[in-house]
Amino acid sequence: MTQINVNNTVRSVDAEADTPLLWVIREQLGLTGTKYGCGMALCGACTVHVDGVATRSCAIPLASLNATAKVVTIEGLSADGSHPVQKAWAALDVPQCGFCQSGMIMAATALLREKPHPTEADIDAAMTNICRCGSYNRVRAAIHAVVSGKLSDAGLKIQHVDGSST
Ligand code: FES
Ligand code: FES
Repeated sequence: MTQINVNNTVRSVDAEADTPLLWVIREQLGLTGTKYGCGMALCGACTVHVDGVATRSCAIPLASLNATAKVVTIEGLSADGSHPVQKAWAALDVPQCGFCQSGMIMAATALLREKPHPTEADIDAAMTNICRCGSYNRVRAAIHAVVSGKLSDAGLKIQHVDGSST
């Protein structure tokens, strides 16, 4: 048995040392908000926080977590969806199918904790998650809405392939 702190609760899990954290979270702990996309640390669907850092849990073997590591999943971000990032996501209808959105929210939350006023380049660097529904413009708008604190008048700019926006 291995002990692991997830969402501020220490849990005992029975898993091989090389089991990816993603599967411990989903199958051992039943926290299915964290999604499996690629399994190769490429898409970001499985993003959680490990000690506050956005981490792709499909690529983290259980044994690589240190004993004091604190893991936070989308279920641990808030009890009722009231985290400012979650509220912005809802206000701007960011999710389409929703599959990638837990990872998006966890990546954005880690970014805003580290950089409360991120530049466009900061957002580009942090938000490398893949969304097959193409929610990228709304993700960016929601991040700006969190920064400004004005969810109601956060404009959604659509960036066109020719570089113009409307
Ligand atoms: S499932 Fe982990 S990065 Fe794609
Ligand atoms: S909202 Fe569908 S994959 Fe991103």
